[in-house]
Amino acid sequence: MKVGFIGAGNMAEAMIASLINSKLLAPHEISVSDISADRRRLIKQKFRVNVYSKNQIIPGVADVVFLAVKPQQLTDVLFEIASGVGCEHLVISIVAGKKVEFIQSILSQARIIRVMPNLPCTVSEGMSVFCMGGTANTSDKQMASKLLSSFGQVLELPEDQFDAVTALSGSGPAFFSYFLNQMVEAAVKEGLNRKDALMLAGQTMLGTSKLLIEKKLDPADLIKAVTSAKGTTAAGLLVLDKSDLSGIVNQTIKSAAKRSAELSAL
Ligand SMILES: NC(=O)c1ccc[n+]([C@@H]2O[C@H](COP(=O)([O-])OP(=O)(O)OC[C@H]3O[C@@H](n4cnc5c(N)ncnc54)[C@H](OP(=O)(O)O)[C@@H]3O)[C@@H](O)[C@H]2O)c1
Repeated sequence: MKVGFIGAGNMAEAMIASLINSKLLAPHEISVSDISADRRRLIKQKFRVNVYSKNQIIPGVADVVFLAVKPQQLTDVLFEIASGVGCEHLVISIVAGKKVEFIQSILSQARIIRVMPNLPCTVSEGMSVFCMGGTANTSDKQMASKLLSSFGQVLELPEDQFDAVTALSGSGPAFFSYFLNQMVEAAVKEGLNRKDALMLAGQTMLGTSKLLIEKKLDPADLIKAVTSAKGTTAAGLLVLDKSDLSGIVNQTIKSAAKRSAELSAL
């Protein structure tokens, strides 16, 4: 199988690393195009994959084409590659807020799958949600699931849930990091050094996630399990409960989902 990436930024780099590390693909089976000479040099150096400055080359050398440019760059890229993309291509778009219908309107022959991955795919702990375009078939679904599984968990959901998905798992790593950083800064004020505080907070976030997922715990039950009457957790939770944190989190997710919807309309 030959796989191509158009756009060699953070996400493409993370995905290429996982595809190669998992031995799903060999470097010579991967081709990448990017407008930036620096990115091409770095990706070539790091992975020994084939790199090109012209996007039009990718459909000629790949059966599966990942679209991994920013949303505002997508339209130009689609028109650039349109004449080379046919029904023999599976196109997998990871571009936030861009619907299958929009991509299909320019790449009319292609089989299209839309994916919302996230940055933890860099360490093979990504969350990828996908939806199928009308012309994509069962073997495309199997192929996409296989590729996406190399960098983490995979779930199929209807496209009308993608704005919420983008807000939660796509942008989520930034929101969790924001909260973690606030906890670290507060712990530094309590006497820890930043390095130790980062380790404590990071491992606590990792362990909490593992516990929730592996034991299939409800977050409310985990909170109960940590909290004893009049103890330290109860004292902290009292502050959270009295604050407008739930309102702020609600606004954060709502605003990210709204932006995803706006990007679809552009
Ligand atoms: N980052 C995330 O956590 C995340 C999560 C889920 C989905 N996504 C989606 O993944 C996509 C890529 O995100 P990213 O964070 O990897 O972005 P990025 O780091 O900015 O990567 C995009 C790459 O494409 C290059 N590029 C720009 N115009 C191009 C063109 N016309 N042809 C070929 N290459 C071009 C950029 O070069 P220049 O820098 O020189 O412009 C850059 O190297 C986005 O659509 C984003 O919505 C990202």
